[in-house]
Amino acid sequence: MQQFAGKVAVITGAGSGFGAAFARQAQRLGMRLVLADVQADALDRQVSALGERGADVLGVRCDVSSDADVGRLARAAYDRFGAVNLLVNNAGVAGTGGYLWENSEADWRWTLGVNLMGVANGIRHFVPRMIAAGLDQDSGHIVNSASIAGWLCAPLLGVYNASKAAVVSASETLYHDLKLAGSRIGVSVLCPAFVPTAIFASDRNRPAELANASAPTASQRLARAAGEKAVAGGRLGADEVAAQTFEAIGANRFFVFTHPQIMPMVRARCDAALAGEAPADPYAQRPGARPPRADGTSPR
Ligand SMILES: NC(=O)c1ccc[n+]([C@@H]2O[C@H](COP(=O)([O-])OP(=O)(O)OC[C@H]3O[C@@H](n4cnc5c(N)ncnc54)[C@H](O)[C@@H]3O)[C@@H](O)[C@H]2O)c1
Repeated sequence: MQQFAGKVAVITGAGSGFGAAFARQAQRLGMRLVLADVQADALDRQVSALGERGADVLGVRCDVSSDADVGRLARAAYDRFGAVNLLVNNAGVAGTGGYLWENSEADWRWTLGVNLMGVANGIRHFVPRMIAAGLDQDSGHIVNSASIAGWLCAPLLGVYNASKAAVVSASETLYHDLKLAGSRIGVSVLCPAFVPTAIFASDRNRPAELANASAPTASQRLARAAGEKAVAGGRLGADEVAAQTFEAIGANRFFVFTHPQIMPMVRARCDAALAGEAPADPYAQRPGARPPRADGTSPR
């Protein structure tokens, strides 16, 4: 899709971080906007800011883990604009780190509910309508926000890693399924490394019914501290990620890797798998970033 002006973008998780940056970029390109987020005040702020800049924008409060909410989002988008050209399944949460065996069922339900079912719900409610509208690569595109965590299985982030590996897999399959179905709608999967956003404050939107009853364990506290530090230290900003993503949409490129310096680690992971070796150390190139053990000692 190279011409964006006048086309309609639906962006989930638009109240903060990447989603807000996608919305700004889409508005700069003259798109009409449907912004969705579970956090009403953050959503309202983005809708107002873009509206003041002249955007034709609709805000819809939506929990992407809810089939009913995403169904309502799709109806609201088509009722208002009659079309959706760009779907950005971006809403996501982190913060359920720590040793995998210490994660609760609620950790899994919350993270997979938003990160994976959010993407699944977006695909289920929008893609049939986009196909029925006869969109092609010039008029239709879907972006799913995965992460480099979908490729590198860093310790203490197992639930998040699993959710993002699933998004990479679902996106790749969507690409093949659309081809098989004779559709030329474009697909991209976004795989950034750490970028300063509010992602490690995701608990702000964790539903009370999925809260943990017990206090965080030592490994969970360590994972949070390491995650907050890594995100805060990210040198690439959300607006740059958005610019790279729109460049990829324009080029109809599937994989959007925003941090080239991390790609040797992705290669090492794939090489180890192909060679039948043990999993490659995700910190081999950046040993300084390796979290200490929960008991405070350093791993080898
Ligand atoms: N920031 C990073 O380092 C990084 C790296 C790789 C991938 N990602 C992914 O990028 C996406 C955007 O994250 P971000 O970094 O901008 O974080 P963020 O917390 O700044 O923004 C995420 C947005 O999603 C919304 N959200 C949370 N739960 C929701 C739900 N159930 N329904 C609808 N909206 C919901 C939040 O309210 C927030 O506005 C996520 O999928 C995240 O996993 C982030």
